[in-house]
Amino acid sequence: MSDRSILLIITGGVAAFKSLELIRELGRAGVRSRVILTKAAQEFVTPLSVSALSGEKCFTELFDLDDEAEMGHIELSRSTDLVVVCPASADIMGKAANGLANDLASTALLATDKRVLYAPAMNVRMWDHPAVKRNVETLRADGSIVLEPDEGLMACGEFGPGRLPEVARLKEEILAALSPDRSLEGKHILVTAGPTREPIDPVRYISNHSSGRQGYAIAASLRDRGAKVTLVSGPVSIQPPEGVELKKVETALEMLNAVETALPADAFISVAAVADWRPATASDTKLKLKGGDEPVSMTFAENPDILKTISNLAENRPGLVIGFAAETNDVAAHAQGKLQRKGCDWIVANDVSGDVMGGENNEVSLFTKDGMEASPRMSKAQIADWIAARIAKALS
Ligand code: C5P
Repeated sequence: MSDRSILLIITGGVAAFKSLELIRELGRAGVRSRVILTKAAQEFVTPLSVSALSGEKCFTELFDLDDEAEMGHIELSRSTDLVVVCPASADIMGKAANGLANDLASTALLATDKRVLYAPAMNVRMWDHPAVKRNVETLRADGSIVLEPDEGLMACGEFGPGRLPEVARLKEEILAALSPDRSLEGKHILVTAGPTREPIDPVRYISNHSSGRQGYAIAASLRDRGAKVTLVSGPVSIQPPEGVELKKVETALEMLNAVETALPADAFISVAAVADWRPATASDTKLKLKGGDEPVSMTFAENPDILKTISNLAENRPGLVIGFAAETNDVAAHAQGKLQRKGCDWIVANDVSGDVMGGENNEVSLFTKDGMEASPRMSKAQIADWIAARIAKALS
């Protein structure tokens, strides 16, 4: 790591002092830190202590003529291997997610052409606020790494997620981001995500609760490892990851068609919650369902099983085909049955009896012909990374 450097942006928060230890630890690993302190960060740590530890000038002002003469803010944001924001306040993430630039730190984040890693630290209610969640999702979709904060007792006395991770973990994440795994370069991976929507008439449809989050996160992790990703997605309300080819579909029939058109691929990951049935005929006009004496009945036609179809292709079958199994009970037995029935290579099973569907976290078991491996309970982004790492290993 001796030739590597980071631009470390320290924002205001009680955890800012941990960044000093981080600078020292990274230095021990041969990583140089050039530091920007926001105005609020200077309430917690001083430019002098930062400079003493980093051995470099510490930057604080956007319009400082001396600094600009020495190194312009654009150059500052680019002459680095990675930008790290630690601790990352709700404020800096809000600015970066929305493209605001009104001080040196936010301007550097907008001007950089390097990857950005955020280590958030804030009060648990702030971390749980929908606006912060939206911003985190946007930053991840834009290709940034946003670490999950630790859970525990906070400086403000409340308990929950929001604590800055320990320095050892921060160092590990930064070193991993500095030498990224690009082992999927040259591979084409096809991912389906989200629900399908099966029309009853022009205003009604049958669908399910899938948010698309897990599939989108997997597409982003595979992209990060260098894969060319085609993401075939049913209707969802989340941001698509940057740098993947997005094909939007509504129905299962459209999804199958889009998947077949996108072949050949090295791997097919079927994360979508495809509706098994569709109304046999979708009415062209709005159905009048009220007021009759008879209960309303509807005839259904079975949708194609996309996973099974692709698993059993005689030609163009991707080398690795992965299905997902969302189960509420007997997860292992159902997953193994599905592996056999569908003819796929792996099944990623999860228990959706809790808050997984549409929720933030997940916990999966990976079934292959050779056995089973269980993941810890993690955010959907971390689960995606866990799965992507195994795909990368299998394809290389
Ligand atoms: O049989 P079940 O629906 O539980 O199987 C889930 C797996 O099969 C998922 O990977 C899902 O994407 C896929 N599937 C499919 N086409 C269907 C139904 C499920 O590709 N019609």
